[in-house]
Amino acid sequence: MTAASIDAGAVADEPVDRSLALRGLRKEYVRGTPVLRDVSLTFAGRGLTAIIGPSGTGKSTLIRCVNRLVEPTAGQILFLGQDLARLRGAALRAARRRIGMVFQEYNLVERLSAIENVLCGRLGYVAPWRAWLRRFPREDVDGAFDLLEAVGLADRATQRADALSGGQRQRIGIARALMQQPDLLLADEPTSSLDPKTSVEIMELMVELAGKRDIPVIVNIHNVELAKRFAQRIVGMTGGDVVFDGAPGDLREEHLKQIYGGEAWL
Ligand SMILES: Nc1ncnc2c1ncn2[C@@H]1O[C@H](COP(=O)(O)OP(=O)(O)OP(=O)(O)O)[C@@H](O)[C@H]1O
Ligand SMILES: [Mg+2]
Repeated sequence: MTAASIDAGAVADEPVDRSLALRGLRKEYVRGTPVLRDVSLTFAGRGLTAIIGPSGTGKSTLIRCVNRLVEPTAGQILFLGQDLARLRGAALRAARRRIGMVFQEYNLVERLSAIENVLCGRLGYVAPWRAWLRRFPREDVDGAFDLLEAVGLADRATQRADALSGGQRQRIGIARALMQQPDLLLADEPTSSLDPKTSVEIMELMVELAGKRDIPVIVNIHNVELAKRFAQRIVGMTGGDVVFDGAPGDLREEHLKQIYGGEAWL
């Protein structure tokens, strides 16, 4: 069985509702100074949503609240029948396993090989002693190879992460996230450290692999052109508020002025 074909949470003839609903999501790092101002958004259970907005506007905070890397101050995060904002301990760990995350700076373990980094996506699933001894079940190793192949890096399996290029690292980052068999994929500026061509390839890969798994993807991205090219929906944020929410074709210059402020840069 390949990683892509395993779907522990799903019954074959009963599709999973993977929609995500944020209700009044608020974050204050400093009391009384909201960085997210009661954001309410519903994300469909499939397709890619791009979140755009100027630096410091709360995009990373928003997606980090979803997987609880950041503690929300108030509001609900409804996903797979649970309020993620309320989860603690084992329930939180279980929910986190189902949320894949792709980072701008890849967050790989440098001294581990490509395949071991991909297998890190299974850490939430296997017994700690197996992970400690790096003895992953055969089907996990097979699944990791399948994913390496899917991201075009089968021939780099044993190469250390620190010997890979940025684009290759991000491919590993995507493979690792998918190795979790996630029900949701979050990506925080996955292409910001990459050249334009590699950026397109990475976006294509995320769309393709998430499409195969039929899961929703939420991507924070600074490149508006890439957002328009790959997203079904664009959410524009400014100062912790959503100021645009619509199809890429509806995003006009006036919206960009509102999102980013001013027009000299346009
Ligand atoms: N751990 C933290 N403690 C205090 N303030 C924080 C913390 N993390 C972020 N902030 C502040 O919250 C605001 C939003 O930050 P966030 O990283 O979510 O913005 P962003 O939209 O992702 O920006 P960028 O486009 O630069 O990545 C910023 O003013 C930032 O300084
Ligand atoms: Mg950010």
